[in-house]
Amino acid sequence: MGTQRLELKPDSKSAEIRVICGYSSELSRMQEPTVEPSRLVIGRLAFGDFIRLMIDMLVRLYDLPESGELYSKVAAQGITLRRARAFEKHTVAGFARTHFSAKWVSEVEVAITRQPVACFIATKDKAILGFACYDTTMRGFFGPTGVAEAARGTGIGKALLMKSLEALRELGHAYAFIGGVGPREFYAKACGAVEIPGSDPGIYGDILP
Ligand SMILES: CC(C)(COP(=O)(O)OP(=O)(O)OC[C@H]1O[C@@H](n2cnc3c(N)ncnc32)[C@H](O)[C@@H]1OP(=O)(O)O)[C@@H](O)C(=O)NCCC(=O)NCCS
Repeated sequence: MGTQRLELKPDSKSAEIRVICGYSSELSRMQEPTVEPSRLVIGRLAFGDFIRLMIDMLVRLYDLPESGELYSKVAAQGITLRRARAFEKHTVAGFARTHFSAKWVSEVEVAITRQPVACFIATKDKAILGFACYDTTMRGFFGPTGVAEAARGTGIGKALLMKSLEALRELGHAYAFIGGVGPREFYAKACGAVEIPGSDPGIYGDILP
């Protein structure tokens, strides 16, 4: 599952491919405001190209990797990892709007109304570098999450993921789900997530604009 071979006729050089729109920030961002809500033209693919589906992934919370060293590495860069606070809702939502999509703004706003707040943020010098939500659109789901482009590759994304997964474990979950995954290699490597067969499009099959 996850990668689907496109069947093109041998004489065709390319084809316009339409897929049910999933959930990754890239797709959501491209989707707005010009494309019909639930379908998205992702481009012209050459013969033999692959198209990757939007699947959910499963995480074994009873088998999470140790995260202390990662948190220390992030802290050593002067970055704070913590839950967002209710009075910061506009700031975190603004970050999601600027860097990602309107749909993620909606989810951030829901996550921040939970108690305890179900949204972790990474901050430095009074600015947000990244965020991660859990238990937001569905119970046991991780996401959305995003790190500002300039701050990627420093461990923030993984640290926010681990904070959220540990919070879900603390709530009593044995497993967590990564909903509508974009970078599945990231999740496989960071927390041993595995793809869930048959999960595309999952809950994201009928999305309003
Ligand atoms: C995915 C994302 C949150 C990762 O954040 P990040 O801060 O760059 O990731 P980290 O620095 O914590 O990376 C941790 C590890 O994962 C690896 N990694 C990061 N992004 C990866 C990707 N897209 N694919 C594969 N591996 C990735 C890093 O190389 C690093 O490996 P290491 O532990 O061997 O050094 C970030 O790229 C992002 O915001 N992407 C756009 C939004 C998005 O796709 N969100 C997920 C929707 S499901």
